[in-house]
Amino acid sequence: MKSLYIKTYGCQMNVYDSILMENIIKPLGFNVVNDAEKADLVILNTCHIREKAAEKLYSELGKIHSSRKNKEITIVAAGCVAQAEGEEIFRRAPFVDIVVGPQSITTLPELIVKASKSKGHVINTDFPKVMKFDRLSDECYGNSQGSSAFLSIQEGCDKFCTFCVVPYTRGAEYSRPVNEIFREALKLVANGAKEINLLGQNVNAYHGEYEGEVWDLGKLISHIAKIEKLERIRYTTSHPRDMHESLYLAHAEAPKLMPFIHLPVQSGSNKILRAMNRKHTTEEYLEIIERFRKLKPKIEFSSDFIVGFPGETEKDFEGTIKLVERVRYAQAYSFKYSTRPGTPGAERKDQVPEKVKTERLLHLQKLINKQQLEFNQSMVGKTIPVLFSNKKGKHQNQIIGKSPYMQSVCIDDPEDKCRDKIVNVRILEAWQNSLLGRELQE
Ligand code: 5AD
Ligand code: SF4
Repeated sequence: MKSLYIKTYGCQMNVYDSILMENIIKPLGFNVVNDAEKADLVILNTCHIREKAAEKLYSELGKIHSSRKNKEITIVAAGCVAQAEGEEIFRRAPFVDIVVGPQSITTLPELIVKASKSKGHVINTDFPKVMKFDRLSDECYGNSQGSSAFLSIQEGCDKFCTFCVVPYTRGAEYSRPVNEIFREALKLVANGAKEINLLGQNVNAYHGEYEGEVWDLGKLISHIAKIEKLERIRYTTSHPRDMHESLYLAHAEAPKLMPFIHLPVQSGSNKILRAMNRKHTTEEYLEIIERFRKLKPKIEFSSDFIVGFPGETEKDFEGTIKLVERVRYAQAYSFKYSTRPGTPGAERKDQVPEKVKTERLLHLQKLINKQQLEFNQSMVGKTIPVLFSNKKGKHQNQIIGKSPYMQSVCIDDPEDKCRDKIVNVRILEAWQNSLLGRELQE
């Protein structure tokens, strides 16, 4: 038996791709190990969304190579950096054996055989006509991921936000057919999943085929919610332009759908949203939030923000601060704009100085952290259902799970009774990034 080690960077889509790669490679006689030092096959599944991704990859590759110099080892660069850098990887890191893009991972078995025979460089960064999902046998899908599982339903993006590399690295938008997703969901649940996270770069743009019809995300969720033993459904990442009636309805009517939506807005200035090609305004975004809140008062939101997009003035940035104050997020991610080669934003002459970006980021993060802490503190004294999926806490007797709002909740569980269960927890204390509670016995 040979050993496989996969390191995953970036988003949940990459986590899902790493699971697929594992399932594709294991039947070739590999078992998965957690230590690159012990592996015969090392895969780095990379993310290209922000700066220095390529530098990080080369430095990580260098480390692996130098620690394994005298051993027979196959090194694979996968993911979006591999897609973007292509042959350049062999030039800068000649010891890499295989370069494979996210849409070509199904060809890994052939690539591995080819690389071992030729001892040369093997590359596949095609965007094949037949999507990767259609080229895999059923055995590659739905294998156990524990009680919280990822399921990719949609890939790629046609929106071309002017800051983003995804349309170039992941290709055109593609939705998997409903029945294929449903089969995978059934299998995941049979293998222990209590929660399914539906994934897509633009998940609410989903438009999959069902017996000659086209179904949207709302319809798909209502269908998946029928799986009896499935208790929680989530979806990420949404775009404000793709909100639709049946999704609002699903939030109102499917209790399994968690009341927490990651809905990136990126900026609170209409001028910047236009420059980003987001094709929606702050007013439209706020209307969506209001509509959800009317429908379901206990719903919460998170978002992504970019500060210092080219042309962003102090006034534009104030718009972002005002929007955050208005919405009151349960949590949010914020980033300094980073120029991505090949995207329209990178060509602009009015780049914002690094120092200004840093100041704005600190300002925004202070506000976001304050809101997150306030939200966490508002849970103290409440009883909430928590899914404990496999994570041990800092102390030996503790276990960590997730609240409906994706907060980390820690309880004492010396006998490991709560693992893989949804348990009612009374919240005792709250901090910036976690809650402490105690299991409430019925
Ligand atoms: N610079 C900074 N942040 C970016 N993101 C995407 N591209 C860039 C970029 N060039 C952020 C966006 C997106 C999240 C996944 O990453 O906020 O929603
Ligand atoms: Fe990137 Fe915009 Fe597509 Fe999201 S919607 S993946 S930010 S291009």
